[in-house]
This record gives sequence, C-alpha cells and structure tokens, in this order.
Amino acid sequence: MIEKEFSRFASEYGKYNMIQDKVAQKLIDETKDTPKKIVDLGCGSGAIAQKISWQYEKLTAVDFSSKMLDLHPKSAKIHCIQESFNEDKLFKELVKSEYDRIFSSSSLQWASSLDETLYQISQLNAPISLAIFTSNTFKTLLETAKIDSPLRCADEVMYLINQYFHAEIEVVTYELSFDSIQDIFTYIKKSGVSGGRNALSYKQMKKLMREYPSKTLEFEVLFART
Ligand SMILES: C[S@@+](CC[C@H](N)C(=O)[O-])C[C@H]1O[C@@H](n2cnc3c(N)ncnc32)[C@H](O)[C@@H]1O
Repeated sequence: MIEKEFSRFASEYGKYNMIQDKVAQKLIDETKDTPKKIVDLGCGSGAIAQKISWQYEKLTAVDFSSKMLDLHPKSAKIHCIQESFNEDKLFKELVKSEYDRIFSSSSLQWASSLDETLYQISQLNAPISLAIFTSNTFKTLLETAKIDSPLRCADEVMYLINQYFHAEIEVVTYELSFDSIQDIFTYIKKSGVSGGRNALSYKQMKKLMREYPSKTLEFEVLFART
C-alpha cells in the first residue's frame, strides 16, 4: 500500500526531525502487542523510548553515536549500547537474550550491508517493526540536481526483507512544505536525513536553489512489521 501524507515545516519550533518523529509514532501506534523486552536499533535521542505507550520491562537501545546516546532517556529499564548495527559483535551480544520485538526507526537505510543486518536481526527470533527511508526521498530535488539517491529503492529493501521475514510491508510518502527554498536547504542540512553526505559543491547547491521547481520535499519510508 502506498500512502501520502502532507505536513508543513514549522521552523519556529526548530523541529528538524518532524518526519522521523511521525515515522516513530506510526511504528508505535501500529504495534498491536505490548512487547516487554524491546530492542531499538539506531535509537538516536530516543523517539521510540519516548513514544512507547505500554509498560515494558527492558529496552535495549543501540546507537553508534555517543552524542545521540547521551540524549537518550535513561532509566533502570533502559540499557544503552554504543555499537554499530554493521558489526557482528553487536549481534553476538544481543543474541544472548530473548526479545519480544525489535524496533528500528529511520536508521537502517545507513546499514552498510542491509542484507547482513537483516539476517542478523532475523537471528534474534523476535517480531520486527522497522521503518527504512528509501530512494524516492528528496526525489524532485535529486532529479533536478541530476544526482542518484544514496538510498536503496523500496523494491530492493522489500526484496531483502522478504528473504528473512514474512512481513507486512507498506511504503508511505510524506511531503513537507516550506515557505522558502532557503528553508528547504537549511532543513536538509540540519535534519540529518541526508546522512551527512554532501553530494553537492557550494556552486552546485546555489544552482540547485535557483532551479528547484517546488517548495516541498518528499520522503519515502518503507515500513515492515511482523
Ligand atoms: C535519523 S536518526 C533516527 C533516530 C531515532 N531512531 C528516531 O527515530 O528519531 C538515525 C540514527 O541512526 C544511528 N546510526 C546510523 N548508522 C548506525 C549504525 N551503523 N549503527 C548504529 N546506529 C547507527 C545514528 O547515529 C542516528 O542516531
């Protein structure tokens, strides 16, 4: 199923993560069980931890960035691990425990081998709630700049997920509108959606700002649930 949602960018709130926030909320809202032992891969500052609406026993929050983990909520129930989901080492540690659900929101698009990371997740033998950004994110902008998306396309992600899980898959397109082109570029810089990749030089960026035909940005996210 393909869904489209529209939002307006609210710069006055400095909310550069509003799409990631919506994505995390959707993962939580669509969790019909109440998992007690949870893993969150690429937990960031804790969007999942903050939105969980049921009583849980333990949340294992994984991120390779100590700066992000510093911002993550802390409690006796939350165990933070600073490690990469590209590393065997992480999964060798995780597999020692049992879990009721594995979450990952807006993070696995940066897996160096999504195939390998999904395989490792499948070895944890737990239901999954994953949201992965795919290549139609910033579609018009990338087309205008004539650059390829650094992200995998939805079909490829779907194929990889189907290798390891019988998942329900949904691709959702979000559209965020802005008051000015300048706001769009500030957003891209600050939101972290581009994964810190600077594909364009200053000159190319200026040219793109002149030529970009719209005041909106598109995002495409694939949700997979079992
Ligand atoms: C866009 S943020 C999403 C954070 C949070 N899940 C949310 O929904 O707001 C992506 C996060 O993935 C983390 N990340 C990226 N690559 C990673 C890796 N290889 N291993 C662990 N964390 C990673 C980043 O540090 C960042 O915190």
